[in-house]
Amino acid sequence: RNPEKERLIEANELSAKLYHFLLKNTEHGTEAMKYLRSRGMNDKVIDQFQIGYAPDRWDTLVQFLSKRSFDLKEMEKGGLLSARHEQEGYLDRFRGRIMFPIHDRNGKVIAFAGRILGDGQPKYLNSPETLLFNKSRILYNLHQAKTSIRKSRQILLFEGYGDVISSWEAGLQSGVATMGTSLTENQVAIMKSMADEVVVIYDGDKAGMAAALKVIPMLEGVGLRVRIALVNEGMDPDDYIRKFGAERFRHVVETAVSTTKFKLIYLKKNHILLEEDGKIAYAKEALPIIAVLNSSTEREVYLRELSSELHLSYESLKQDCNLLRQSMQ
Ligand code: CTP
Ligand code: MN
Ligand code: MN
Ligand code: MN
Ligand code: MN
Repeated sequence: RNPEKERLIEANELSAKLYHFLLKNTEHGTEAMKYLRSRGMNDKVIDQFQIGYAPDRWDTLVQFLSKRSFDLKEMEKGGLLSARHEQEGYLDRFRGRIMFPIHDRNGKVIAFAGRILGDGQPKYLNSPETLLFNKSRILYNLHQAKTSIRKSRQILLFEGYGDVISSWEAGLQSGVATMGTSLTENQVAIMKSMADEVVVIYDGDKAGMAAALKVIPMLEGVGLRVRIALVNEGMDPDDYIRKFGAERFRHVVETAVSTTKFKLIYLKKNHILLEEDGKIAYAKEALPIIAVLNSSTEREVYLRELSSELHLSYESLKQDCNLLRQSMQ
C-alpha cells in the first residue's frame, strides 16, 4: 500500500466525476457539449467514457480539492494542478478543455487528456508522468476493452481517443490507443498477454501509414498475428465512421489486409507504375518483402498479384524471388 498513490487515485476519480458533472449539468459545459454534439457524440458514449469539461477558470479544481482537504502540493506533483509562477499557490492545470479520463487496467482514473475546443495549440494537453501515470505502460480504454478482447483474442489498435470512442459506438469494443507516443515494448507485452491478433487501425494519412509500418515488426516480433485496416485517404477512423457509418467501418476492419499486402501497398504509393523505371524499382523493392515469406503458397499469391499488376511474367518474378531467397540464407 502506498498512501500517496491512494490519495492521488481518489483525487483523480473525484476530479473525473466533477468534470463530467460540469459538462453535463452546468452552464460551464454548454459550449463543450455543443462541440461534442457537433462531432456526433451522444450522451450514452459521453457517460461510458466519462467525458467531462474543465471550465476556463483558474481555480475550479483548486477550490474543489482544497475543500476536500487534499494537499495541493501533492496534487501538483500528481499532475492535476500547476504551481503559480509569480507567487505562492496553485492553479488548475486543465482549463477550457474537454476532459478524457485515462484509466488503468482496473478502471481507476490515473490521468487526463484535455482537448481544446476547436482549433488551437496544443490540441491535447496530457497529464505529466506521475506516481500513477506512465504513458508508455498504459493503453487507453484497456479497462473497458479487456472483456471483449479476452473473448475474441483480438485487439484493435488506434492512434487517438476519438477513434476508440467512435469505434466503440460502432459496435467494436476491443479498441485501445496509445497516447500520442510511439508504441512501446511494454504495451506490446501487455497486448501479447491478452490476445493472439492485433488489427492496426491508424489514421489514413502519411504519418499513420508510416507509424503502422513501424509497429508491424514489434508486434510480429512477439508472435502476434497482425493485420492492417485501410482507412480512406486522409481520414482517421473517427472521421470515417462519422462520414460513412458504422457498417462500412466494420467492413474496413473485417477486411484488414496482411502485413505483406500492406507493405506492398505502401511501397506502390512511392512509384509511378506507368514508367519503366518506376515499374522496375517497385518490383525490386517488392521482391524482398515477398522473398522473406516462408510459405511458398503465400509467395505465389503475392508474386502472381505483382505479375498481373506489372504485366511481367510470373516465371521471371519467381526466378528473381528464389535467387533473392538463396542470397538471404
Ligand atoms: N496527441 C497528443 N497531443 C497532441 C496531438 C495528438 O497527445 N498535441 C495524441 C492524442 O492521443 C490523439 C492522438 O495523438 O488522440 C492522435 O492525434 P490526432 O490524430 O492529431 O488527433 P485526434 O485523436 O484525431 O483528435 P481530433 O479528432 O479531436 O482532432
Ligand atoms: Mn471509474
Ligand atoms: Mn494523425
Ligand atoms: Mn486522428
Ligand atoms: Mn480525429
